[in-house]
Amino acid sequence: MKNVDRSKLFSVALRSLTAVAAMTSALALAQNEAIASFKVLDSLEARVQGCVTCHGQSGQGTSNVYFPRIAGKPAGYLYNQLVAFRDGKRHYTPMNYLVAYLPDPYLREIAEHFAKQRPPFATPEQTAVDSQTLDRGQLLATVGDSQKGVPACVTCHGAGLTGMNPGIPGLVGLRSTYIAAQLTRWRTGDRRAAEPDCMKRIATRLSDVDVTAVSSWLARQAPPADPSPESSNLVRMPLACGSQR
Ligand code: HEC
Ligand code: HEC
Repeated sequence: MKNVDRSKLFSVALRSLTAVAAMTSALALAQNEAIASFKVLDSLEARVQGCVTCHGQSGQGTSNVYFPRIAGKPAGYLYNQLVAFRDGKRHYTPMNYLVAYLPDPYLREIAEHFAKQRPPFATPEQTAVDSQTLDRGQLLATVGDSQKGVPACVTCHGAGLTGMNPGIPGLVGLRSTYIAAQLTRWRTGDRRAAEPDCMKRIATRLSDVDVTAVSSWLARQAPPADPSPESSNLVRMPLACGSQR
């Protein structure tokens, strides 16, 4: 990550942490005085205020190329990620802090809130990428590479890349920087999912060139008319995934 990005990220993180601190003390005050506004303050909208600076008002993401869109992903998937950040199985310091002490039912409600959102998508990426790279990316995403044991991404992430309930996220609307970073995190063991961790198996079979290719191709895809995740289909899945149980 470039230095500029880092400092920008840090100041955004700081601002949202301050907002959370303000919210927390306001909440304590409301509780102490048992005033009527307590209920209003503890609305879900208030809870997610600490999230919107980075993920957008409805979870659509922001212009920052690393902050992911979370809107419309299956609630089960979002919940698993929040638990993973809380329990240290995914690492991103501002996220780890924000959810550090939040109980399961609270995280479940936040997950359900963002899963229901259907904000518009940002314009797909248009940066110049050579056609050989894009062809390789399309092949991996839609056909796979049987020699390497890499199944097509669409078999699990859906024909429209909108994901599958309950545990597989849509990939449409994500930026190439974010997708490549996640695949790399799985390759290095920094990101882990429930066993059997199918994404670890897949990511470790991809080369650096493959990671660039598939992330570039995915980030250029336009969203389908209905961005809702597909319903669960264990039969179609080429590998077992702990997150789909
Ligand atoms: C400082 C910016 C920032 C704030 C504030 C923030 N997030 Fe995040 N969030 C991120 C980044 C960056 C990632 C990706 C981290 C990674 O894996 O590298 C992320 C990842 C996530 C993911 C997983 C996304 C996916 O597709 O796997 C979820 C869910 C999430 N955040 C929800 C929340 C919620 C809920 C809040 C508020 C309680 C919140 N975030 C606050 C920056 C932020
Ligand atoms: C066998 C099913 C399966 C296949 C095939 C598959 N995935 Fe996944 N993928 C998953 C599951 C399950 C998760 C969620 C894991 C978790 O709970 O964190 C996931 C998550 C991801 C994420 C994280 C998204 C985010 O929002 O953070 C990325 C990126 C990803 N997959 C890329 C790919 C790519 C690229 C391919 C094709 C080369 C692919 N996947 C093929 C099952 C699959």
